[in-house]
Amino acid sequence: MHGLIERYRERLPFAPGDPVVSLGEGATPLVLAPRLSERAGTEVWCKLEGANPTGSFKDRGMTSAVSAAVREGARALVCASTGNTAASAAAYAARAGVRCAVIVPEGKIATGKLAQALMHGARVIALRGNFDAALALVRQLAERHPISLVNSVNEFRIEGQKTAAFELLESLDGEIDGLCIPVGNAGNITAYWRGFTEMGARPRMLGFQAAGAAPLVHGHPIEHPETVASAIRIGNPARWEQAMNAMTASGGGVAAVSDEQILSAYRFLASEEGIFCEPASAASVAGLLAHGARDCRRVVCVLTGHGLKDPDTAIEQLDDPGATRERAAAGRGGGSVTPCEAELGAIERAVMGGEPS
Ligand code: F0G
Repeated sequence: MHGLIERYRERLPFAPGDPVVSLGEGATPLVLAPRLSERAGTEVWCKLEGANPTGSFKDRGMTSAVSAAVREGARALVCASTGNTAASAAAYAARAGVRCAVIVPEGKIATGKLAQALMHGARVIALRGNFDAALALVRQLAERHPISLVNSVNEFRIEGQKTAAFELLESLDGEIDGLCIPVGNAGNITAYWRGFTEMGARPRMLGFQAAGAAPLVHGHPIEHPETVASAIRIGNPARWEQAMNAMTASGGGVAAVSDEQILSAYRFLASEEGIFCEPASAASVAGLLAHGARDCRRVVCVLTGHGLKDPDTAIEQLDDPGATRERAAAGRGGGSVTPCEAELGAIERAVMGGEPS
């Protein structure tokens, strides 16, 4: 499978013969979600961006940003990150054979993302500060040193990420009324809107933020953002104005969802649709369920990252009261761990227990 740059070269700032650093990103699944559609009262599709090579949508922007950096002769990359940008930058840097440093908020990134950055050989710097502080620092760093900044303040990131909008229009024959998307640093919503407008499409852009990290909803930066959705624990988005413009110009909007709503949507997708995304991604679905689709007949929820990124939050659901209630209501007996002796009778009770034989 060709990567994005080869597939969409005529719409991207790359000439034939330019170096391309690719891991075969893009062309991710778009799946109809029947139970979610029923609950939302409208036709809902999920774009599984967790199916990208490093497990998140960041790879779309990263193939573009790293290819451009290599074209410019960069020897090193840097980014601030809540985890996914770090994992993606580290992978593409490894692929390109350049060095990479990632600045992450200490103790606040999901385990899978840390494992990725380390395995790809990045220098991982655990900042005693949040993402917003990390981004402010790397911007200064990149001004002083010959090191390429691959956060979404980098235009090439947005260019690569806009290809997700092209894929949606191709898959749905241009018939898409609304896009539900989690908003953190606001690069992705900016990129989708650019992609849609370049193709003459104007679906409503429905952005959702975690209630404890919702600067766009409140209209001012949040000094100490907090949410279980660590990927979007951001208080001062770099693409603030472009995100607001996308939502306003498209007749969409921005709203907040609580951590409880996010986790409930996260569990619903996994148990009812077979889709395991990370908590931040589920904010799109939580937002749709909590705030509705504003007369949209067909909406797409962008599921930005894979559930395996954050195994700790998944395992914690075992003890979550909301999860326990849902398990009881579903009556399927799943989602919990049953210890068992290694003998047939015990296995029979464990497997068949509570079910008519
Ligand atoms: N979903 C996931 C899984 C993310 O990792 C991010 C951002 C977002 C949504 C929000 O996208 O920032 O373009 O509005 N993660 C960045 C990172 C900040 O460092 O990995 P956005």
